[in-house]
Amino acid sequence: MTGQNARRVTVVPNGPVLVEGPVELVTEDGVTHTSDRFVVAVCACRRSKRYPFCDTSHRKRVRTDG
Ligand code: FES
Repeated sequence: MTGQNARRVTVVPNGPVLVEGPVELVTEDGVTHTSDRFVVAVCACRRSKRYPFCDTSHRKRVRTDG
């Protein structure tokens, strides 16, 4: 698969890895996770409560009360 048929994978700095879907993702425990989304955000920080998928937990929390 090359050129126009190549699947695009985009690494977001300090964020997830975006993969063109649909995907089947196998984690280190052998479990297969599937997603039919057009673009799938794969967690690269391990903080996601929906791991292996990103839930935006990688974002730094910014206090707005001060
Ligand atoms: S990369 Fe977004 S929660 Fe881990």
